[in-house]
Amino acid sequence: MIFETVASGGCRSYLIGCEESCAAALIDPELSQLDRYTALAARHGLRVHYLIDTHTHADHFSATRQLARQLDVPVVMHRASPAPFVDLRLEGGEMLAIGRLRLQALHTPGHTRDSMCLCVGDRVFTGDTLLFGATGRTDLPSGDAGSLHDSLFGSLLKLDPALLVFPAHEYKGRSHSTLAQEAAENPRLQKKDRGAFIEMMQNLNLTMPTHVTEALRTNMSGGKTVAQMLADAAAIVPFMSLAELKASLEAARGALLVLDVRERDAYASGHIPGAKHLPRGQLELRVNDELKDPTQRMLVCCEFGRISTLAAATLRTMGFQGAVALDGGVKAWREAGHPLSTPPGS
Ligand SMILES: [Fe+2]
Repeated sequence: MIFETVASGGCRSYLIGCEESCAAALIDPELSQLDRYTALAARHGLRVHYLIDTHTHADHFSATRQLARQLDVPVVMHRASPAPFVDLRLEGGEMLAIGRLRLQALHTPGHTRDSMCLCVGDRVFTGDTLLFGATGRTDLPSGDAGSLHDSLFGSLLKLDPALLVFPAHEYKGRSHSTLAQEAAENPRLQKKDRGAFIEMMQNLNLTMPTHVTEALRTNMSGGKTVAQMLADAAAIVPFMSLAELKASLEAARGALLVLDVRERDAYASGHIPGAKHLPRGQLELRVNDELKDPTQRMLVCCEFGRISTLAAATLRTMGFQGAVALDGGVKAWREAGHPLSTPPGS
């Protein structure tokens, strides 16, 4: 088996490939590593056939949907997954053929209702059902401590104790353990009594993961993250540095229109000299009145440089191919000590 682990933050994704056929599957890919997965598969001469999420993640952004579009292969999850974009829904016990490899799904609800563990050869990918020295939490949507107890003691720990454990999270750099090792040493697995296990899980007092609302929104719906919206916009927009803008204004070069897309109060409290005001919220509806020349070279700015990127992308989509965004925002301009104007009467 060709095997690669990709660690990003505390998240772990796995690429498994069949040496004979060059078929592969990707388990729990994460959005920030999108290019790494395709690069790794290419380096090994593998073609990814399946993109598998072990469960609906609440703590990171799944890349399965984006990769599915890019590679034209199915997203695989358990039948209980709420995500509408899942192409192949597995029941516990069902198997996927990845060349000569066989990947068998084990339904292990508890961390989430749709949690699966995946057995391939000598190893088991446990998702968040079983972590090194811990288990997934059961206090997030669709989590259930009793189900986790049943999944662990009634299913997962009934498998071959020699199986290597590869979880979806690891924060201390360990690569794997075994089911036997976890059964012997994992503190949570020492609470074999169902009631005691439930009580322990209900009293962990864990803090909420960051981005939980956004992760659930995007992972359950296939919608985009804010970072993706910004990256999509940035991909079609050229940027201008503060220094270049300053030089351009000083030289009064060409006819560069500075377009400030902040709200009125922010504009009134100080803007780049000569900047025209057109709030982002009114942009599409007012361009025809405010921007007569579609070839106009214009620099779009906002306070931090994010809204201006979205606005410049919108302008380009509408045909203003001379729209660029300020790399940074009026805040950076101000902090650099560059001049600001206030409108008369403000
Ligand atoms: Fe999780």
